Amino acid sequence: MVRVSRRMVSIDHERCVECGFCESVNVCHGGGRCIGCLSCYYACPYEARVLRLEEAECRLVKIIVDGVEYSVPDGVSVKEALEGVGIVFGRPGSRGLTAPCGLGGCWACAVLIDGNLERTCITPVRDGMRVELDVEDVEPLRIVHGPQPHRVGGKATPWWEVNGVRYVEAAIWLAGCNLRCPQCQNYHVTYDNSTRQMTPLEAARRLTECRKSYNTSGLAVSGGEPTLNRRWLIEFFKILRDMNPGARLHLDSNGTILTKDYVDELVEAGCNNIGIEPKAIRLETYMMITGIRDEELARMYLENSWDILKYIISSYSDRVYVGAGFAYNPEWMSLEEVAEIGDRIASIDPGLQVTVLDYFPAFRRRDLRRPTVSMMLDVKKVLEERGLKTVIVQTSMGHFGPGRRGAPY
Ligand code: FES
Repeated sequence: MVRVSRRMVSIDHERCVECGFCESVNVCHGGGRCIGCLSCYYACPYEARVLRLEEAECRLVKIIVDGVEYSVPDGVSVKEALEGVGIVFGRPGSRGLTAPCGLGGCWACAVLIDGNLERTCITPVRDGMRVELDVEDVEPLRIVHGPQPHRVGGKATPWWEVNGVRYVEAAIWLAGCNLRCPQCQNYHVTYDNSTRQMTPLEAARRLTECRKSYNTSGLAVSGGEPTLNRRWLIEFFKILRDMNPGARLHLDSNGTILTKDYVDELVEAGCNNIGIEPKAIRLETYMMITGIRDEELARMYLENSWDILKYIISSYSDRVYVGAGFAYNPEWMSLEEVAEIGDRIASIDPGLQVTVLDYFPAFRRRDLRRPTVSMMLDVKKVLEERGLKTVIVQTSMGHFGPGRRGAPY
């Protein structure tokens, strides 16, 4: 036995409305007891999960990691057990073992457990378990939603291709995210840890079929945050490029973990259309939008998004069509901050396509009020006054783009 400090999550029945999210989308993999992975804690739309720290006597179990036997506390996740014996998870976005979402969606933390690829972040440790860390030769997996055809596309979909009538992109959405946005606009994807996972080949085939069925000019991948599982994403783009020569291959990312060498690899793999969403320019706004409470981490994410946007534009503007995105709601952003954003983009490239999304009530912010059309047009005006030439705003009446004021699509 060993005495350990454990994280335990329980249900707050006062807050639980029995929406069924934790039984159908974000499902406990703990086998009937909490392993403190926190996936459900972050995922519950009604915040009906309570976290507490507990001192407990715990029996030890044996696991074999790359042939070496270790004793680890029972009742924890494989990730926690591995960390306890000195295995280091790398920086999110780097090659090798990382654990960027902690939700069971991205599969970047997967290793071989008794011969099968499994997620370390949500899988409980078990006596006698055999773990192999090197999965380079194993096909990567990820939870994929879609494909579906899209009439508008994402923040980097070239605006002149969009007319609101024909389908412009076939898209998939990948589960798992490193942000915790309280108003997540796609939370059924972000927090999904139960849909069957796919290989890059399977996802690329399905997306290509969708493109053919709807005759779209582009193929897109969004999320969640697509960049979390690097090996999966690079492989996916390579296959997609080979299946769709000359097509526009669109990545929609929050930009938080992309590095220069990751971008280089993506472009090499065929990605020729990238949207980056720094979301804000002021740290306090960014923390409010993303739900990241660790100031240092939030600063790093925010700066990385801006830096990588600049890198993509300066290095690949001849090969990659780039777009930037922001999340507007007067509750967290003033028009002064919008102007600051405009100035920063103008200093990088005044012609850059900029899409401002009017964040509506969703997930944990069901009380949020969607900005009115006139508010969004004010945002557009402010950005254009700072010299930006390609501004699009999303509104409840549709998208207003460059030279189309008053004519949503
Ligand atoms: S970190 Fe385990 S699935 Fe994303």
